[in-house]
Amino acid sequence: MKIRAAVLEEFGRPLEVQELDLAEPKAGEVLVRLVACGVCHTDLYTASGADPSGYAPTVLGHEGAGVVERVGDGVGSVGPGDHVVTLFSPQCRECTHCLDPRTNLCLAIREQQNQGLLPDGTTRLSRDGEPIRHFMGTSTFAEYTVMPEIALAKISPEAPLDRACVFACGLSTGLGAALNTAKVEPGSTCVVFGAGLVGLGAVAGCRLSGAERILCVDPAEQRLELARGQGATDTLAGGPEVVEQILELTGGFGADYTFEATGRVDVMRQAVESARMGWGLATVCGVAGKGETLDVVPRYLITGRRVAGSSFGGVKGRDQVPLLIDRYLAGDIDVDPLISHTLTLDDVNRGFDLMHAQDGIRSVISFGG
Ligand code: CU
Ligand code: ZN
Repeated sequence: MKIRAAVLEEFGRPLEVQELDLAEPKAGEVLVRLVACGVCHTDLYTASGADPSGYAPTVLGHEGAGVVERVGDGVGSVGPGDHVVTLFSPQCRECTHCLDPRTNLCLAIREQQNQGLLPDGTTRLSRDGEPIRHFMGTSTFAEYTVMPEIALAKISPEAPLDRACVFACGLSTGLGAALNTAKVEPGSTCVVFGAGLVGLGAVAGCRLSGAERILCVDPAEQRLELARGQGATDTLAGGPEVVEQILELTGGFGADYTFEATGRVDVMRQAVESARMGWGLATVCGVAGKGETLDVVPRYLITGRRVAGSSFGGVKGRDQVPLLIDRYLAGDIDVDPLISHTLTLDDVNRGFDLMHAQDGIRSVISFGG
């Protein structure tokens, strides 16, 4: 079938909305009609060419939500008409990691996905017979996409898809960091560095866990206002003195749980240093640039602080994204303030411009229908 999609032709250049061919889903695959898709920092990072593992041409986009149109042979967990959220982090439910509660890093299709291929080693996207690679196994800046069944979370049909899409990446990453990775305990003190979508999700996750104090650190007052809306009790502008400020605010000891959601290694270090002696846990959610390293004075660790990393918030996507969306529908998570702009597919580059300008938290592409 013919579809319209935003193609990354060349790094550092705007995306081009073009007509492409999309083949029918093969065994284990699903054709999804996209209804909405968030524009995430990872798309921008790849488009810029800063990611050495990036490739072009490809169709970007990974924060998708839509409706199943058709399924290939052997697909049993979703069917036509089901509402789904796309998962760049799949869940096969069979590999060693999927069977272990300690991780969400499914091993089933990692290699093919990193190369821009579907699990059988080919693409469904093409242009004049030339294959176009998939991005993050999702390629959701498009009217339709073909994805593996194991990379789709079936969600409640009651959830508006232009809200559900942010659970495909940023929001679930933050919520899961607090709920799954750190397992924040009721009554605790938390610090969240960065009030983008991931950080705001972490603030909400700390609140849902019953944290007593939630300090949020961000230089932008607008975002701190949103953080208060998600449950932050104290806000700080950040900077080199922020560790001292946090120690002062926490009786000299630091916080039970700290979260880093900026991707900056100097901030990761602050997250470690503002964690409490004895048991403080610093959870790193941000993705640092390739080759960057985290500087930690070992004395911080020997005196009882711990560091954890969290990819997609430790969320096992097919099992847990539907549950997070149910909590949203129950009124536990306030998604509306996080969506600042609604765009058409043709406006996708404006979504990148808004992100550069740090205007708003999330732009969502609406495909209409
Ligand atoms: Cu993302
Ligand atoms: Zn797996």
